[in-house]
Amino acid sequence: MIKVIFPIFIFFKVIFGVGSINSIGNYVGCFKDSRHQRMLNGLVKPLTSSSMTITLCINYCAEHNFNFAGLQFRSECYCGNHLPMKMKRQDENDDQSDCCSWTCSGQLNETCGGQLCNSIYTVNVSARKNSMSAGNANLLILPSGCQSNPCRYGGTCIGNSLTSIHDAYKCQCVPGRIGINCEHLDPCRFPDVCPRGNCLSFPENGSFACQCRSDTCLSQQAICDASKITTLTCKCPPNQYGEQCELSCPCQHGGRCIIQEDNSTALCRCDESRFYGDLCEHVSPCASQPCYMGGTCIRNGTRFICKCTPSRIGSQCENNDPCQVNPCIGYEVFCSFCFPVVT
Ligand SMILES: *[C@@H]1O[C@H](CO)[C@@H](O)[C@H](O)[C@H]1NC(C)=O
Ligand SMILES: *[C@@H]1O[C@H](CO)[C@@H](O)[C@H](O)[C@H]1NC(C)=O
Ligand SMILES: *[C@@H]1O[C@H](CO)[C@@H](O)[C@H](O)[C@H]1NC(C)=O
Ligand SMILES: *[C@@H]1O[C@H](CO)[C@@H](O)[C@H](O)[C@H]1NC(C)=O
Ligand SMILES: *[C@@H]1O[C@H](CO)[C@@H](O)[C@H](O)[C@H]1NC(C)=O
Repeated sequence: MIKVIFPIFIFFKVIFGVGSINSIGNYVGCFKDSRHQRMLNGLVKPLTSSSMTITLCINYCAEHNFNFAGLQFRSECYCGNHLPMKMKRQDENDDQSDCCSWTCSGQLNETCGGQLCNSIYTVNVSARKNSMSAGNANLLILPSGCQSNPCRYGGTCIGNSLTSIHDAYKCQCVPGRIGINCEHLDPCRFPDVCPRGNCLSFPENGSFACQCRSDTCLSQQAICDASKITTLTCKCPPNQYGEQCELSCPCQHGGRCIIQEDNSTALCRCDESRFYGDLCEHVSPCASQPCYMGGTCIRNGTRFICKCTPSRIGSQCENNDPCQVNPCIGYEVFCSFCFPVVT
C-alpha cells in the first residue's frame, strides 16, 4: 500500500507543491468493478483520454462536482458521489496489487487501475474551487499528452491545453496520414477516390465518405445521391441521362427516350404513325393518313403502302372492289375483276 501511494505523493508534490496531497484527493484503494453495474456511475459515460493521469481524472470529477474519482483500464475515468457499501479492497494485504497495476496512458509512472479494477480517489471539490478562485491556474494545467510522443509517422504533437481534457494534445499529421495519433493512412490521399465529389475522411476510424459538390451532377434539376457513402450517383430529371445527367434526350417530334443499361446511350421510340428515323426526325409518308375507308398505312422507306379492307381496292383504297360490291354470280373471280366463264 505504501508503494502505491508513494509515487502518487511524488506526483502531486511535483505538480502542486509539498503537502497538498490531501487538498485535491486521497487514495482510497483498489476495487473490483462490474461492467453491468459500475461502482462510480455519475457520468453518462466515462471520460476516456489517451493522456489520462490521476490529476486529470480527479480534476474532471471535481469539475463535475463528484465526490469520488476512479481510474480504470489505463485511460478511463469514472466519477460518482457514493461508494457501494460492500466493497472489498483488492490491495488490502498486498502492497503490489495485480488488479490495479496498469500504467496511466498519459503518465507512465502512475497507476490507472486495471481491467475492471478501479483505483479510487476522494475528490476535494472545495480545494479545487478555492484554488481556482484564488487564480491558481497551475492547478488546471494538465500534463501535456505530448510527453508520451503519441503522434506517429512523423506527426507533430501540439499540447499544453489548459482546460479541455479532450484536447490535451492534438496531432498534426504529415500529408497522407490521419487519425488521433496519425495511425491511419488518409483514404482521401488519392484524387480519384470520390470522382467529382469531395472526399471526407474520418480520423477516428480511417474510413471516408464522398460528399456531393455543386458540379457533381451537371443538370440543374439533377439530384445528387450520396446514400451509398463512398459512391455518388446522379438522379436525372426526365429526358436527361448520363452519369452526371450531362446528356439530353436527342429524340425529335416528341419521341420517347429509352435509356440503355449503360446509362450513357439512348434510343428513340417514335410515334410510328407520324415520324420515323433514329431520332424520329423524318415525317412518315403515313402521317397524312393517305389510306381511305379504314385502310392501314404501312411505311416502306419514304413511300407508303395501303392495306385495304376487303371491300376496297386502289393504291389508297379509293375504289370499291366491284367483285365484293356486286359479286358476279356464275362468273369466276380473278383478282379484283370479274370475267365471264365460257361454258
Ligand atoms: C513521473 O514522470 C514525470 C515526467 O514524465 C516526472 O516529472 C515525475 O517526477 C515522475 N513521477 C514519479 C513518481 O516518478
Ligand atoms: C479540502 O481542501 C480544503 C482547502 O484546501 C482543505 O481545507 C480541506 O481540509 C480539504 N479537505 C479534505 C477532506 O482533504
Ligand atoms: C467512421 O466514423 C464516422 C464518423 O464517426 C462514421 O460516420 C462512419 O460510419 C465510421 N465508419 C466505419 C466504417 O466505422
Ligand atoms: C445506371 O443507373 C442506374 C440507376 O441510377 C444504376 O442503378 C445502374 O447501376 C447504372 N448502370 C451503370 C452501368 O452505370
Ligand atoms: C418496298 O419498296 C421496295 C422498293 O423501294 C420494293 O422492292 C419492295 O417490294 C417494297 N416492299 C413492299 C412490302 O411492298
